[in-house]
Amino acid sequence: MKLRGWALVTGGSAGIGLEVSRGLLRKGYSLILVSRSPQKLKNAKYELSRELQKSDERQITIHTADLAEPSAADNLYAWVQSRKFVVEMLVNDAGMYICDEALNVSRERVEAILSLNIRALTTLSLLFAREMAERGRGRIVNISSYSVYMRYAGLSLYGATKAYVRNFSVALSREVRSKGVKITTVAPSGVDTGLLGLPPSTARLARITGFMMGPARCGRIIVRAAMRGRRYIVPGWHNYLVIPFLGLLRPVMTKVMLKNTATEHAKL
Ligand SMILES: NC(=O)c1ccc[n+]([C@@H]2O[C@H](COP(=O)([O-])OP(=O)(O)OC[C@H]3O[C@@H](n4cnc5c(N)ncnc54)[C@H](OP(=O)(O)O)[C@@H]3O)[C@@H](O)[C@H]2O)c1
Repeated sequence: MKLRGWALVTGGSAGIGLEVSRGLLRKGYSLILVSRSPQKLKNAKYELSRELQKSDERQITIHTADLAEPSAADNLYAWVQSRKFVVEMLVNDAGMYICDEALNVSRERVEAILSLNIRALTTLSLLFAREMAERGRGRIVNISSYSVYMRYAGLSLYGATKAYVRNFSVALSREVRSKGVKITTVAPSGVDTGLLGLPPSTARLARITGFMMGPARCGRIIVRAAMRGRRYIVPGWHNYLVIPFLGLLRPVMTKVMLKNTATEHAKL
């Protein structure tokens, strides 16, 4: 197997990020997994270590950081520099989801979603893209969302942060490609990770009808696209076909999503 150097995956301890990490490990990358919970990181490292052989040169390192904190992205970059890791692949996966009318969302949660989904991703993309451009090679994967096509009530905050991710990342990829840096932007539709907070029965129905996919499949598609240097993908070909009809689906989708939010409010 060809060794490919370090891949840094934010949100690499769970969900899509964990599966992307698994795929990158199989492609020959060593991993730096970043998220908030030390326990989740340890579990992820333990699980992924089973992929390694004895005397394997690939390594897995974990680092705890809350990337919604204002200076967290700069601190993470400084930590990577201090350890002399050369990051060949950056995956900005960590993201926060809010499905609620914006007027119901606390100031703290608004700050957190802007900070994590926009500021941290932008800072890390620019810091690493700059050093990759100097080296003349490197890859970045930024996770946007299918919600960019769904300007529905309840998604005003989340959808707008992900639209930023898409526009920023696709345009940045045009600026840096000639410098050897390939940026892949991914807009997954529903992925069964728990992030959306759907009741299990709804998630099951969504998987059966193809509205949701499993994180393992999504991870495989993302790694394949990144290795091929694709600029923008929506995982699952059928999701492309549904885009023109998302306006027609708006009333029913909004009802399902906001009903779930109402249940959450009732629990509090
Ligand atoms: N699931 C979907 O349907 C879906 C669809 C489209 C796009 N996406 C996007 O895909 C990405 C991953 O989603 P997912 O479904 O895999 O979510 P997930 O299963 O909840 O995993 C999120 C990961 O991010 C980490 N994380 C969360 N907040 C963080 C913070 N403030 N600082 C550092 N790490 C943080 C989590 O670990 P800790 O909790 O330990 O921090 C975890 O490792 C997100 O950007 C999401 O918006 C998801």
